[in-house]
Amino acid sequence: MSETERMAISTTLEGVEKPVKTVMFRVFRFNPEKDEKPYYKDYEVPIYRFTTVLDALLYIKYNLDPTLSVRYSCRMGVCGSCGMIINGKERLACKTIVLSLNSNIVTVRPLNNLPVVRDLITDFTPFFDKHKQVKPYIIRDDVEAHYDREFIQSMDELMEFMMITNCIKCGLCYSACPTTATDELFLGPQALAQAYRYTIDTRDSGAKERFEAVDTNHGVWRCHFAGACSAVCPKGVDPAFAIQQLKKLLLYRRKKMEKRAPAHESNKPRELLKKVEYPEGWPEQ
Ligand code: SF4
Ligand code: FES
Repeated sequence: MSETERMAISTTLEGVEKPVKTVMFRVFRFNPEKDEKPYYKDYEVPIYRFTTVLDALLYIKYNLDPTLSVRYSCRMGVCGSCGMIINGKERLACKTIVLSLNSNIVTVRPLNNLPVVRDLITDFTPFFDKHKQVKPYIIRDDVEAHYDREFIQSMDELMEFMMITNCIKCGLCYSACPTTATDELFLGPQALAQAYRYTIDTRDSGAKERFEAVDTNHGVWRCHFAGACSAVCPKGVDPAFAIQQLKKLLLYRRKKMEKRAPAHESNKPRELLKKVEYPEGWPEQ
């Protein structure tokens, strides 16, 4: 590995200070092309003050065992790619500081409720299929007619669902959910939270279509309110709350939501469509 590659994967204090300790990583391994069944393999990793679990896994990959497969991208808790089960709990590997686990053995395995592709990588196809089923976008008939206008929404209306917009589709809630574990058709906490988020958006008029998707035996009523989804969410989303609110909407507001007129459009063209004028001397963006 070149020095540039080494620097690119290391956010630890390697080379700046001494490791605090050595931690044993017990890592789930499974290559469907050659392994009959999964197994765990142990690796010793030097740990610095700010070494994350992702740093440790990349240390293993680049120094001890290049066959280890792990998925990641942003390394800053934004892309949602590095979800896995670390010492028994769903976490983002890039946001988990090894020393914060307070353990000399760290067990790492792939997320539950999703097929394993290889080692720590799971196939998110079922997760995103369910996400799509709830139509996670603004639905209204007049979008084309008003393509150059904003639809008016107050700050209070935005704050009603703002928390749910923080979802990064990491799948931690989906893995932690005991209902998803027992019913593979259950839409799951992430998709149901998104159904609620778009249904209460005052710019939307798609409640009827979304209610059809969630008002089923494998939809909102299958949730038993275990709350595991909200407990593991790394972005402060509360899917358990959103699901209960969605149940409430279905029970009390079906008629009201169907009749509700969506927010009217602004009488001004979108500011964003105008060309941005930069001060003289600024480089073209
Ligand atoms: S709700 Fe939270 S845990 Fe679930 S996918 Fe979104 S960010 Fe991840
Ligand atoms: S690498 Fe993007 S969230 Fe961890």
